[in-house]
Amino acid sequence: MQHHPVGIIGSGKYVPERILTNRELEQMVETNDEWIVTRTGIRERRIAAAEQATSDLAYEAAVKALEASGLSAEDLDLILVATITPDMFFPSTASLLQARLGAKKAAAFDLSAACTGFIYGLATASSMIATGMYNHVLVVGAECLSRITDYTDRNTCILFGDGAGAVVLGRVPEGRGFKSFELGADGTGGELLKIGGGGSRLPSSQASVADKQHYIYMAGREVFKFAVRIMGGAAEEALRKAGIEKSEIDLLVPHQANIRIIESALNRLELPPEKCMVNLDKYGNISAASIPIALAEAVEQGRVNEGDCIVLVGFGGGLTWGASVLIW
Ligand code: UT7
Repeated sequence: MQHHPVGIIGSGKYVPERILTNRELEQMVETNDEWIVTRTGIRERRIAAAEQATSDLAYEAAVKALEASGLSAEDLDLILVATITPDMFFPSTASLLQARLGAKKAAAFDLSAACTGFIYGLATASSMIATGMYNHVLVVGAECLSRITDYTDRNTCILFGDGAGAVVLGRVPEGRGFKSFELGADGTGGELLKIGGGGSRLPSSQASVADKQHYIYMAGREVFKFAVRIMGGAAEEALRKAGIEKSEIDLLVPHQANIRIIESALNRLELPPEKCMVNLDKYGNISAASIPIALAEAVEQGRVNEGDCIVLVGFGGGLTWGASVLIW
């Protein structure tokens, strides 16, 4: 079968207006700005308005990505939303977005791979275009993590925020587009990062809510160690598959979880900080939305040029990880 080169032909991001600062968190839990900044690099994060759900954030990012691609919603064959905070269990957030966009021709589904969801989504969508099944796919990473965060738990509430990033994938000229994907999972670490309640194992009940099972649970230190090990390794494996050297990377766009995790990946890849996109200081960790927001912001800032070698890399619940090399 003939495989077509596939790449990103438009990107966009949206973050809610409301800013939650470290100073405000000091009023909510036993923490302080200095601890948060030195341990995580995060200074503030965005919080969705009460009337906004994940599909609303996704919609704003999707409109911008479509505009940048020069396509209309009716040109889309598929909408894929990576999220762990869907508007509801079903219908999928992708279906809600399809209706809102008026993307009448598009199939729609959500994908669950936590913070790695956007990279899993890119791999899925680009394969469908490469084989000729589809021409244009909208891939969105969107989250309202504030809705599943326990603001009395200082281990997690300082980290997370809300937002959405979107890209339109389509065929690109020979030599450009995605060169490789490296996806992985280690389900034995699933207990380290989860929401235990509300599913078929532990349906929502007064007891599950009283026990805070509807909030994110994270074994931070264990996840941190896993992340440091996996980020550099996944990126190296994607580079090896693409036949590209570390020294050829123009921009690394990592999952925005913790500045210390990003620095360890930079060390391993022997990259200077200026070759890395970092915006976690402004937005915190937005799970599946972190990488597409960082990528869209890098594009807005003129940090991505035609022919550049971009490496995307992320990790998260599952446990999962993923990396991709693409030529812009
Ligand atoms: O995208 C999802 C993936 N998740 C992540 O990437 C998160 C990965 N993990 C991390 O980024 C870090 O583990 C954290 C930022 C969550 C925590 O940093 P750490 O350096 O691993 O701290 P720690 O959990 O080892 O805690 C060190 C100390 C503890 O006190 P003791 O036991 O040493 O007395 C904590 O109780 O810091 C304390 N602590 C805090 N102190 C002030 C924990 N959270 C806070 C806080 N403010 N918010």
